[in-house]
Amino acid sequence: MSGSIKLCSLNEVEDGNSGGFFAETDGKMNSYIVVRKGASAFVYLNSCPHIGTPLDFAPGRFLNPDKSMILCSTHGALFRIEDGYCVSGPCAEQSLSEVAIDILDGIIYLA
Ligand code: FES
Repeated sequence: MSGSIKLCSLNEVEDGNSGGFFAETDGKMNSYIVVRKGASAFVYLNSCPHIGTPLDFAPGRFLNPDKSMILCSTHGALFRIEDGYCVSGPCAEQSLSEVAIDILDGIIYLA
């Protein structure tokens, strides 16, 4: 496997919910959004395309109340879970930075 930087295990995120994790890449510590969907997950950099702040008001809580979208707590932008595309808010039509991952034996690795 390329990279092999472990981000987290799937079990650390409840199915259908989100978590926040840190990993060091290229000598820099980055913050990541993880949204779990069963045995798979969507991962994005925790940086809003609006002004670059982290999205979570409470650590690891990235979803709107019905857990259908990723919510930026700063100004309320909503992003699709599946591709990070912003459907409403001040950065509408921009996207979160998607992070390529590999999942092996229930562990999420940065690809
Ligand atoms: S910083 Fe995310 S909507 Fe403004």
